[in-house]
Amino acid sequence: KADLEAWMRRSGDGFFPVSFAEAAGDDIPVLYLLLAEGGAPESYRLDVARGKITVTAPDAAGLFYGLQSLGQLAERCGRRIPAVVIEDAPRFGYRGFMLDVSRHFRDKEFVERQLDLMARYKLNRFHWHLTDGAGWRIEIKKYPALTDIAAWRPYPDWEGWNFGGKRYCHRDDPAAAGGYYTQDDIREVVEYARALHIEVIPEIEMPGHSEEVLAVYPELSCSGKPYTDSDFCIGNEQTFEFLESVLSEVIGLFPSEYIHIGGDECPKQSWTSCPACQQRIRNERLEHENELQSYFVHRIEKWLNARGRNLIGWDEILEGGISKTATIMSWRGADGGVAAAKAGNQVIMTPNTHCYLDYFQTQEPERLEPLGIGGYVPVRKVYSFDPYDRLSSAEQSCIQGVQGNIWTEYIASFAHAQHMALPRLAALAEVGWACDRRDFGDFTRRM
Ligand code: ACM
Repeated sequence: KADLEAWMRRSGDGFFPVSFAEAAGDDIPVLYLLLAEGGAPESYRLDVARGKITVTAPDAAGLFYGLQSLGQLAERCGRRIPAVVIEDAPRFGYRGFMLDVSRHFRDKEFVERQLDLMARYKLNRFHWHLTDGAGWRIEIKKYPALTDIAAWRPYPDWEGWNFGGKRYCHRDDPAAAGGYYTQDDIREVVEYARALHIEVIPEIEMPGHSEEVLAVYPELSCSGKPYTDSDFCIGNEQTFEFLESVLSEVIGLFPSEYIHIGGDECPKQSWTSCPACQQRIRNERLEHENELQSYFVHRIEKWLNARGRNLIGWDEILEGGISKTATIMSWRGADGGVAAAKAGNQVIMTPNTHCYLDYFQTQEPERLEPLGIGGYVPVRKVYSFDPYDRLSSAEQSCIQGVQGNIWTEYIASFAHAQHMALPRLAALAEVGWACDRRDFGDFTRRM
């Protein structure tokens, strides 16, 4: 109740176009929020009648979503909300949005505005891409160099860094650009999200996309030299000690069921000539470097499972074989997700063909859009996404939901991020929520 009231008061500034009175009157309906047994999780019934508006739901999230729908009606109709009954429930339990804060750091206020936006569209999982080669963004008490150095670059933006030598600098360097979240910041964002019925899922990239870590802790790389490797050395036990220590602090900050460990685009090149990695391959009777990555992922997964958490990885973790319990995030199209579902693994669909919101939205980006990473994912394409494509009904039950991703190589400003997010994230939210979504014209009219 306190959460809902706080949200309504905060949103009364225009986001939720209503104001509050102490008592009901001729023109001021009473708002009832009722918890009642029965009904699917997150479902609600919204009943607008003369003098009385009632939201009924089996859980607090359902009440919250009923209020979102009421807010959308009010936004459209002003103070004269039509008499209506809406009974509604989400199609998927996982309706996600991912933000990359490595390529361009975003402060916690920016992140909280994205969470507000997510709540409005009834999205409920925030995947926070906290670490990558372009910068480490989360305070880890045991390893201060991650945020004293690996969070800072002597270039104002990602392009300068990427094409200018990929160097980091000390936070006190006059040219330092970047930043990180303190553990207090993280706790604040997690609590802010919780009150909006959003679970925050942290991603800590491993074993690839880790240039920033290996620049400051080069003993964890195959060469042992800074600015040389992108992948952790899997032959070295110190790698596991480091990652488990980092994850210990991470799980202390994030109560989420899932921890995302990345796993994408690991070139594995340094492993092929590394005596320690090759020794590991022989000792563990592995066939090749893909199986070495699987060995690594299994070991991290066991560690997480022993602490009550489940692992998510990008679809590359399928390549050397995965455990039954790992959840796959399908990004290189839907193929990885289809293969994982056929094997009985849980899947989150975020194929770059439909869900990459950093891709261009028009066929004339040079003329019509800010500089971007490439691709072409117009809103119509997002809206047309069928997460069940090519799956039998048994396999469909492995699909937990969908997610839109914003990678930020070229996205430095709030305005640009909004330009990429909307209206495509709204279209994807509808893919995640509605089963009977078919009419793009209707969607466009409502937008
Ligand atoms: C990814 O886009 N590399 C997951």
